[in-house]
Amino acid sequence: MWAVQYHRCGGPEVLRVEDVPAPRLREGQVLVRTLASAVSRIDVMYRRGRLPHGLFPKQTGFDAVGQVVDSRTEAIVPGTWVAVVLGLEPLRSRGTTVELLAVEPSRCGLFPHGYTPRVEDCALVLGGLTALRALRDGVRIRPGERMLVVGAGGPVGLAAIQMARACGAGVDAVAGRAALHSCLTLGAAEAWDHRGTEMSELRASQRYDALVVAAGKPSEWLPAVRRGGRAAITDGGAWPGSIPTALRTGVRSVPVAAGHGSEELTWLARRIARGDLVPVVGRRYGPDGVARAHAELGAGGTCGARIIDHRQTRIL
Ligand SMILES: NC(=O)c1ccc[n+]([C@@H]2O[C@H](COP(=O)([O-])OP(=O)(O)OC[C@H]3O[C@@H](n4cnc5c(N)ncnc54)[C@H](OP(=O)(O)O)[C@@H]3O)[C@@H](O)[C@H]2O)c1
Repeated sequence: MWAVQYHRCGGPEVLRVEDVPAPRLREGQVLVRTLASAVSRIDVMYRRGRLPHGLFPKQTGFDAVGQVVDSRTEAIVPGTWVAVVLGLEPLRSRGTTVELLAVEPSRCGLFPHGYTPRVEDCALVLGGLTALRALRDGVRIRPGERMLVVGAGGPVGLAAIQMARACGAGVDAVAGRAALHSCLTLGAAEAWDHRGTEMSELRASQRYDALVVAAGKPSEWLPAVRRGGRAAITDGGAWPGSIPTALRTGVRSVPVAAGHGSEELTWLARRIARGDLVPVVGRRYGPDGVARAHAELGAGGTCGARIIDHRQTRIL
């Protein structure tokens, strides 16, 4: 089978599409023929050597959508379509940008029977899970509240806008220029360019009940929240530096991680299938374009997810 993997840490050029043996299915696992995966900052951190993993070669990719083709568990039968998030795996080398993935049911969400996922649905898997955690566990959003999403143009932010609207909250967004239209289409009342001149006024506004920070410096944005309000920070590494500002402004601020809960993934898969959540794909690549996707991540102009379409393999 094909797999995108690397034999040493480094820049995007270390990523290669290679022919590898299919994974051996262990008791309790399912074998998934993948349809698509996404490129996230976690993949970049692994590739740069900032996150521990098992022996090289290390495969890339953290989430996927695909169909179960073999099963050694009663939990999931062959033929089921699943959404997968691996979670951090310091002792393993597997990734999701591969043809076949052996994975535990605890890391799979089930699409409803009769729904065949599309490649673009993968835009909502890791980003959707992170947004769910940010809204449900982080800020505990309630109907009628007003929320600001900073870094709203990526997969996390665009999912957060939609989930907050579905909860009956009002949402404003701060994103790059390329994503402003999508933010408004998906339900933001107002959307600002993060490079705009009105940012200092917005940051100090104390206007919001809740805040999700998916980009930028959390400490700069906490004063946009009223005293007693809540904030969720999706970059755990940026959270400690914001604690003094959270204490000064009286905002309850917490870091959130996507995790990989199967119940949450199934919740997400159901909403994707029902069309309650709209996937936004900024750019599609084939497996031989993963290095390009890594290089382009964080380079600006983001509007939705960078998706790897696994049907586009030209090798082997
Ligand atoms: N903890 C977890 O489990 C987990 C899982 C997934 C993601 N995350 C984190 O969540 C964050 C968002 O992920 P993502 O995949 O949605 O990110 P992304 O695709 O990189 O999107 C980031 C968005 O923020 C905008 N932006 C960049 N700099 C900004 C600034 N200074 N102020 C406001 N907006 C800015 C970008 O616009 P331009 O591109 O136009 O500049 C883009 O719209 C990342 O920090 C990621 O590491 C965490």
